Amino acid sequence: MESSRKERKIVTVLFADLVGFTARAEQLDPEDVEAILRPYHERLRAELERFGGTVEKFIGDAVMALFGAPVAHEDDPERAVRAALAIRDWAREEESVQVRIAVNTGEALINLGARPESGEGMAAGDVVNTTARLQSAAPVNGVLVGETTYRATNQVIDYRGAEPVEAKGKTDRLAVWEAVEARARVGTEVVSTRTALVGRARELDQLVDGLARARQESSTQLVTIVGVPGIGKSRLVYELWQLADADAEIIFWRHGRSLPYGDGVTFAALAEMVKAQVGILETDSADDAAAKLRASIADLVGEAERPWIEAKLRPLVGLGAESELAGDRRSESFAAWRRFFEALAEQRPLVLVFEDLHWADDDLLDFVDELPDWVDGAPLLVLCTARPELLDRRSGWGGGKRNALMISLSPLGDEETARLIADLLDRAVLPAETQTALLARAGGNPLYAEQFVRMISERTDGGAELPETVQGIIAARLDSLSSEEKALLQDAAVLGKVFWPSALAAIGGVPDSQVEDRLRGLARKEFVRRERRGSIAGETEYAFGHLLVRDVAYNQIPRAARAEKHRLAAAWIDSLARDRSDDRAEMLAHHYASALEFASAAGLDTDTLAEPARHAFREGADR
Ligand SMILES: Nc1ncnc2c1ncn2[C@@H]1O[C@H](COP(=O)(O)OP(=O)(O)O)[C@@H](O)[C@H]1O
Ligand SMILES: [Mg+2]
Repeated sequence: MESSRKERKIVTVLFADLVGFTARAEQLDPEDVEAILRPYHERLRAELERFGGTVEKFIGDAVMALFGAPVAHEDDPERAVRAALAIRDWAREEESVQVRIAVNTGEALINLGARPESGEGMAAGDVVNTTARLQSAAPVNGVLVGETTYRATNQVIDYRGAEPVEAKGKTDRLAVWEAVEARARVGTEVVSTRTALVGRARELDQLVDGLARARQESSTQLVTIVGVPGIGKSRLVYELWQLADADAEIIFWRHGRSLPYGDGVTFAALAEMVKAQVGILETDSADDAAAKLRASIADLVGEAERPWIEAKLRPLVGLGAESELAGDRRSESFAAWRRFFEALAEQRPLVLVFEDLHWADDDLLDFVDELPDWVDGAPLLVLCTARPELLDRRSGWGGGKRNALMISLSPLGDEETARLIADLLDRAVLPAETQTALLARAGGNPLYAEQFVRMISERTDGGAELPETVQGIIAARLDSLSSEEKALLQDAAVLGKVFWPSALAAIGGVPDSQVEDRLRGLARKEFVRRERRGSIAGETEYAFGHLLVRDVAYNQIPRAARAEKHRLAAAWIDSLARDRSDDRAEMLAHHYASALEFASAAGLDTDTLAEPARHAFREGADR
C-alpha cells in the first residue's frame, strides 16, 4: 500500500546557504562553479552526517538536511543545532565561505521510500518552508532557530534573542533565537537531582544490600536495573553512590556509558572506566597516557603479570589498534582486563557501573556477562542499567548466575508522582484538574513528570501538548522497533488505550499467530502489557504500557491510512457477537466518526462510509 511507506514525523529541518554566491557565480565559468561547490558540499555533508542528519538535497549553493527522518533519535533538535554550529564555526575560519543557517522543528509527512541521494524529496510540511524563510533572515555566519527547536534545546545550547521574522502567508511574525554555542557535554551521567527521591525505598535497599554482600563475602555481585527511559535507573545508581560516598570505607567507583549512536568504539564504556582509574585525560599525549597506565598497573600486580596486562589494556585506552581486540584475541584481552579489575577489587571494594547496556555491542555484553563467573574472592559490584530491550536481545541476562539480581522498575504510584510534581513546582497544592491531567500524562514516569512541569511553567498557552523532549524519546524508541512491530503498535493506537489481538489481525491483515508473537515481543520491551481482565468477552485484552506511546504512534499515521484503519476497526467491532452494551455502540460510533473525519480531511470519497456511520450514530444515540 502506497501510504504505508509514509509516516508523519516530528523532524528538525536545517537549511544552510552560501552568502552572495549567486552573484559571484554569474561571473564564473560553470567548471569553476562546480570546483568551488564540490568541496563545500562535501564538507557540509560530512558535518551533517556526523551528527546523524540526512542530506535531503543540495540546490546549488544551498543545502537542506533532516534530523529525525528516516529514523528518529532522542535528541534530534540538539543534533541539528550542533551541526549548524559546526558549519558556522567552519565558515568563520574559512575566509572564502560565509553562510546563513536556520534550524526549525515541526511535523512533516515523511516519504520513507524516497531516495534522497537521487534528489527525491523525503519531507513535506510547513516546517520546511518556514525554515527556508528563517534561513534567508539569518545573520551572516549565524544560526537562527524557531521556537520549537529553541524549546527543545535551550537547556543544552546557549541562545540570544533576535528580531522576529516576517514570513509570507503568516499573520504573526515568527519568534526566533540565535544559537551562540553548545554547552559542553558532561562526561559522567547527568541526573538532575533537583528534587528529593520519592519511593524506591525497597529498590535502594536491594542495591545497598548488593554492595554490602560484595564487601562482606568478598564476592562478585551482578545487579541489573531494568526499566523504560526516564523511570529512574540512573537516579537509583546515583543514590547508591551518595550512600557509598558518605561511608567511611573508601571504595573505587567507576562509571561507563554506552551511547545510542556509535563512536564506533565497542568497549567505550570499559575504556572510560580504565582511563578514569589510571587518570588518563583526553588532553594527555600518548606518552603521558602510556606512562600513567604503566604506573597504575605496577601498583596493582606483580612483575610477572605486568607486561601482559599492559599490552592488552593499551588498545582499550586508545594506545594501539582496536583491531587487536577482535576475533581470537578477544578472549585473551578479556582475561587481562578481568585480571586488572580483580586486582583493583583486591585493593579496595570496586563498583563498576555500566549505564545503558541496551546500547552496548554484543562484545561488551559478553564481557560484562562473564565478569561474575571469573572474578572471585574480591569485593566487586557490577551494576548495570538497561531498558527492557536488553532482555529482548539477551533473554537469559544474568540468569543462572549465583549472585545475580534483576531490579525491574515499575511506574511510580499516583501518590508518589503527586509528591514529585509538587516538589518540582515548589507548590504543595495544584488546581485539581491540573493535577489530574499531569498525573495521567506522566503515567508514573518521573522524567515525563519533570518535562511536563517544565513545559507548564515555561509556557502560558495551556500545556495540552507533548513536550518535544518526551516526544523525541518515545519516537526514537518506536523507530528502534522492527517495521512489523511498529505497524502493529500503530494499528493498536487506532483502537485506543486498550486493544485486542483479533482486532489487530483484522486491521493489519496479519494472521493471529503472528499478532500474538509480536505482542509478546512488545510486552517484553514494556511497550504493551496484557490486562488481567478484558472488556470484551472471549477476547484477550492488551493495553499500552504508557499512554503517550499510544499518542505518538497514532500521530505517525497519515490521515488516509488512519481513516481506513478506523473503518476496519469499526467493521471488526460490528463483526462481534451482538452485545447490547453501551460501550460497543459508542466505540462503533467513535470509529466511524474518526473514519469520516480523516477521510474527508484527506480528500477521499466518503460515500461508502456514510451509511454505516449513520446507522452507528443512530444506535449510539438510542442508548
Ligand atoms: N524516585 C524518584 N524520585 C524523584 N525523582 C526521580 C526519581 N526517579 C527518577 N527521578 C528523576 O527523573 C529523571 C529521570 O530519571 P533517570 O534516572 O535519569 O531515568 P533513566 O536512567 O531510567 O532513564 C531524573 O531527573 C531523576 O532525578
Ligand atoms: Mg539513565
